[in-house]
Amino acid sequence: MMMEIQPEPFLTFPESWHRHHLLDLESLSADELMTILNTAAAFKSETQGFRRKLTALQGKTCANLFFENSTRTRNSFSLAARRLGGDTIEFTSAGSSIAKGETYIDTARNIEAMTADIMVVRHSTPGTPLRLSKHVDCCVINAGDGPHEHPTQGLLDIMTIWEHRGSLEGLTVALVGDIAYSRTARSNIWGLKKLGAHVIVCGPATLVSRYWEDFGVEVVYSLDKILPRCDVLNLLRIQFERQHTRPFPSVREYALLFAMNRERLARAKEDILIMAPGPINRGVEITPDVADGKHSVILDQVTNGVAVRMAVLWLVSGARDRKESSR
Ligand code: CP
Repeated sequence: MMMEIQPEPFLTFPESWHRHHLLDLESLSADELMTILNTAAAFKSETQGFRRKLTALQGKTCANLFFENSTRTRNSFSLAARRLGGDTIEFTSAGSSIAKGETYIDTARNIEAMTADIMVVRHSTPGTPLRLSKHVDCCVINAGDGPHEHPTQGLLDIMTIWEHRGSLEGLTVALVGDIAYSRTARSNIWGLKKLGAHVIVCGPATLVSRYWEDFGVEVVYSLDKILPRCDVLNLLRIQFERQHTRPFPSVREYALLFAMNRERLARAKEDILIMAPGPINRGVEITPDVADGKHSVILDQVTNGVAVRMAVLWLVSGARDRKESSR
């Protein structure tokens, strides 16, 4: 017998939402993106910044399956589930039976047998959450699959811009740095474009493909050239752990050309938002004074991560319950 989702008095389940997995932002419509953002905003307000507990996931279990390291994503999914009254299972591959040769599918199916309703999966291989969704009955949420996508990161970035600017329409948002290896870049590109922002990708040619132009994204190789017209800069970490060869001669040279520092900030718009998905490499993509300065909304992004994850957990599990009860 499926445990029915407990409706919150302040929220009615959106009739238009049918997905019981969240695997990417590429396949979501603008309406679906706005449904998540509106739900996230409602949860953030109703819980008074997550200080009040709700009951929307009471009786449900969210399993966090992390085959790659995480601080922000894992802990905020965990907090989001608990703030909605759910239980969590915390799996990390270190110390698990993966070391004895168990496959990730077997691992997930064993966790599901403990009655998990939702699986949040991070893995270094692109497509892992999609594949998993075909082997388990529970909801699957992509928490980052290699360089492919990180949909909740894209959503929390967009929510932060939306909160500060009221709309995405017509804003110029530059993603700067390691576009080639960044799942955050891909989720941002799909989400931002659908909500009407002009997206620029900027970085060294070895990390920024000209082919992004085919998707309506502006490709630029000089940060200084675009700086005066950007409303938002999202400074992506150089992901040395995914790169097989060094994409630029030295970190110092990269920082000279692409780091956001005090001198560059003086040439930017007065109300520019400085964002970074974290973890940040201080002194590489951003200097400490800018990371901690008045334009930085980096910690707002982290806070909004909890709201977005509450919304996604509630929406996917609600859609699954509705499908089950209509059978
Ligand atoms: N931004 C992000 O995904 O951070 P974590 O790797 O700490 O989860």
